[in-house]
Amino acid sequence: MNGVDEAHLRRALDLAEQGRRTVTQGAMVGCVLVRDDAILAEGFHARPGGPHAEAVALAAVADARGATAYVSLEPCAHHGRTPPCADALIAAGIARVVVAAGDPFPLVAGTGIDRLRAAGIDVEVADRASPIGLAARRQNAAYRTATVLGRPHVTYKAAVTVDGRTATRAGDSRWISGPESRRLVHEWRAAAGAVLVGRGTAIADDATLTARDCDPVAARQPLRVVADRSALLPITAHVVRTSAEGAVLVVVGPNAPASRRSALERAGVETAVAADAPALLALLHARGVQSVLLEGGPTLAGALLAAAVIDRLAVFVAPGVMGDPAAPGLFGDALAPVAIADVVPLASLEPETVGRDILLDGWLRDPP
Ligand SMILES: NC(=O)c1ccc[n+]([C@@H]2O[C@H](COP(=O)([O-])OP(=O)(O)OC[C@H]3O[C@@H](n4cnc5c(N)ncnc54)[C@H](OP(=O)(O)O)[C@@H]3O)[C@@H](O)[C@H]2O)c1
Repeated sequence: MNGVDEAHLRRALDLAEQGRRTVTQGAMVGCVLVRDDAILAEGFHARPGGPHAEAVALAAVADARGATAYVSLEPCAHHGRTPPCADALIAAGIARVVVAAGDPFPLVAGTGIDRLRAAGIDVEVADRASPIGLAARRQNAAYRTATVLGRPHVTYKAAVTVDGRTATRAGDSRWISGPESRRLVHEWRAAAGAVLVGRGTAIADDATLTARDCDPVAARQPLRVVADRSALLPITAHVVRTSAEGAVLVVVGPNAPASRRSALERAGVETAVAADAPALLALLHARGVQSVLLEGGPTLAGALLAAAVIDRLAVFVAPGVMGDPAAPGLFGDALAPVAIADVVPLASLEPETVGRDILLDGWLRDPP
């Protein structure tokens, strides 16, 4: 794979990115058809059940014979909601296929590549650890985590002062981050399968948790989930009162009083039972949620960290200092390591300036 191949794969990833808000189930995929150094056609997977990126690109050109297809994800080889893309590429006379990442879905998992090779097509797959291979896997972190691990991908988003505090000791946290950061979070909500908070945050911040400040306007809302083991969320909470603006699920513990559950349900929200954080994620997975934007406070975040189910951190570091050791940090004390050797390591950590804040993008683990 040379620099030209990589540039076309980058373009395929950019195209795939256009499905970020709509493809909340399944994989985001982009495809570029190139012949004699010229781009013939492009396509991307725009919605679940809709035509795949390869089919879109092939439909846009009368004759693709001898072309190279650059795809951000291995072409499928099975009849799902659409016919197999590997067959379509073979039938179109494609000479070479360059793939950024394999598809972990059991019905594909290498069979797409095998079928192309069996038809005499030259297939090249980016190294998993190469920059483009890793970028392709990270782009589909939600799909890959859901497919391989059977749970949603979890990104913990939070805002901290420079000394790592998420609220004052009195519980005030509005606003630690600046307006640009908060706007970005609305974009993330628009692309998330679910937004998750604990009851503590739902009460303290009384936030709506919808995707509002987006451009273009969000066409769908994420499922809003409140983890509320004791079922003590008041029906006057904003998230409950705005249930008409998008679905709300309150997840209670097994011992939650039935009367509290029915009060919440009468107020317009759905309830479900999960014993702990992994069970809560399993419940969301069963409902088809691939990605969770965790916006909860340190108690719930600590429980998820201890259960090793936080995959990515998005921490806005704001230019301010709390100067109070009693003010809460990012996580509760569920882990409480004694030795530095027990610190949870990150696979990578990158800074980005967002308005007056610095966004720390940290991956605890790379997608499978
Ligand atoms: N700066 C920021 O980015 C940011 C973000 C969010 C929140 N905050 C601040 O954080 C504070 C709230 O913190 P918090 O820790 O109380 O909020 P939280 O973590 O969102 O909510 C805590 C509640 O979650 C419930 N919960 C449900 N399932 C749980 C599980 N498996 N493990 C642990 N808890 C579970 C617990 O209910 P039970 O008691 O019934 O077990 C607990 O009371 C507020 O001051 C808020 O402003 C700041």
